[in-house]
Amino acid sequence: MRLDKYISNATDLSRTDVKKLIKSGLVSIDDETAKSGSQKVTDDQEIAIEGSTIQLMTSRYFMMNKPAGVVSATKDHTNPTALDLIYEHRNDQLQIAGRLDIDTTGLLLITDDGQWNHIVTSPRTDCKKIYAVELENAVSEDYHKKLEAGIALEGEKRRCLPATMQVIDDHHIQLSISEGKYHQVKRMITSLGNEVVSLHRLQIGGIALDPELEPGDYRPLTEEEIASIQ
Ligand code: URA
Repeated sequence: MRLDKYISNATDLSRTDVKKLIKSGLVSIDDETAKSGSQKVTDDQEIAIEGSTIQLMTSRYFMMNKPAGVVSATKDHTNPTALDLIYEHRNDQLQIAGRLDIDTTGLLLITDDGQWNHIVTSPRTDCKKIYAVELENAVSEDYHKKLEAGIALEGEKRRCLPATMQVIDDHHIQLSISEGKYHQVKRMITSLGNEVVSLHRLQIGGIALDPELEPGDYRPLTEEEIASIQ
């Protein structure tokens, strides 16, 4: 790639600004002063502006432990958003892959890779989401059968896809679903004749919430975690 294109892709600088920097001798390639914007560079070369190395922007992937009171949106007039808690370059290009309600806590995936986001959220890809659910009333044995048959939600033409449940104790279950309909878990539990007291997302596909993350904290996904979504 041309040096000037490489730098303007990796930074907020325009090609004109980049050309000026190169002319002023402020850009280096592998510690050698760059002579022209048309010089070809490759990914394994070190490009620096005034001694600071820059990197070509590749897609970015993060997990957050979403706290209650934060909305899964890019903008909101009333409440803080998950993106308000992310301090990254070109923050405005990030999107949330699978929203959570304001009162739901736990695993939130954030990326600027639209295709990857689609794989996480599309019901067709069968990317399982696992939730820890606290129930108002004691769990009943017949939930297993009903969940496997697909719950009929009020106002929806089609039944939910089959879901599975693991009972932790009388009032706590782990529910695994592969869709993300509006308020899906809460509505499923209501249609089973119970209510959700609290909801926390533990896992999406092969990505489990990092127990080291405090509420509101986030970290980049590892290569393995990114590749586990396909
Ligand atoms: N289901 C819900 O009802 N709420 C969430 O936040 C996520 C899944």
